[in-house]
Amino acid sequence: MNDKQLVAEHAAQRIESGMLVGLGTGSTANFFIEALARRQQDDHLRIEVVASSVVSTLKARQLGLKLRSMEHISGLDVYVDGADEVAPDLTLLKGRGSDLVREKLLAKASQVFWVLIDPSKHVKRIGQNFPIPIEVMPFAWQLVQRSLDGIGGAAKLRANGDGLFVTSYGSLVLDTGFDPGVDGKTLNTQLNAIPGIVEHGIFADLTSAVFCAQDGEVSEILA
Ligand code: A5P
Repeated sequence: MNDKQLVAEHAAQRIESGMLVGLGTGSTANFFIEALARRQQDDHLRIEVVASSVVSTLKARQLGLKLRSMEHISGLDVYVDGADEVAPDLTLLKGRGSDLVREKLLAKASQVFWVLIDPSKHVKRIGQNFPIPIEVMPFAWQLVQRSLDGIGGAAKLRANGDGLFVTSYGSLVLDTGFDPGVDGKTLNTQLNAIPGIVEHGIFADLTSAVFCAQDGEVSEILA
């Protein structure tokens, strides 16, 4: 079992019958979906799941998990997902994929949010290893780019081959770099105030616990 599988298994062991469980997106989330399906089978867990993406929906369905659609939930017990970066205050960077809107909705609606990582995801500051993905209404991207420039952000439309990258819900993505001096929580507040932004990849004040696997051991950092 590799470390990603181990941390996914660790989280799956915490799931109890009767829970509505949110499924994240990405390679670690995929291992969690597999571990959860095994628990449903082996331990006769009675659970329902809600997925943050089409990929996770398909995987959950294929493995026999009972799906609820986001339109029909008012909250969930636990949301489990990976992250691209984790800062010391447990602010996250997410959204390398194309599903951060659903991911953030589920993280916010959940009683608890568990983040599954390996040590490579720890950073000193958000934006250290990746640009911050900012989903924008297609017609608004130039105005948003100007607003970002006004707060020190250098924004570039994400490309996809010869075309533009389009998210699951038809938004464009501005991958944005900021001055290393600005912290993630400040940026979160600034980005929340810009019209035309559908959502962005900084997840502040949402994490309940980070589970980190390294060399066959899982450690827990509680918020
Ligand atoms: C998906 O949009 C992201 O937020 C993922 O949670 C993130 O990229 C982590 O993916 P891995 O588990 O594959 O590292």
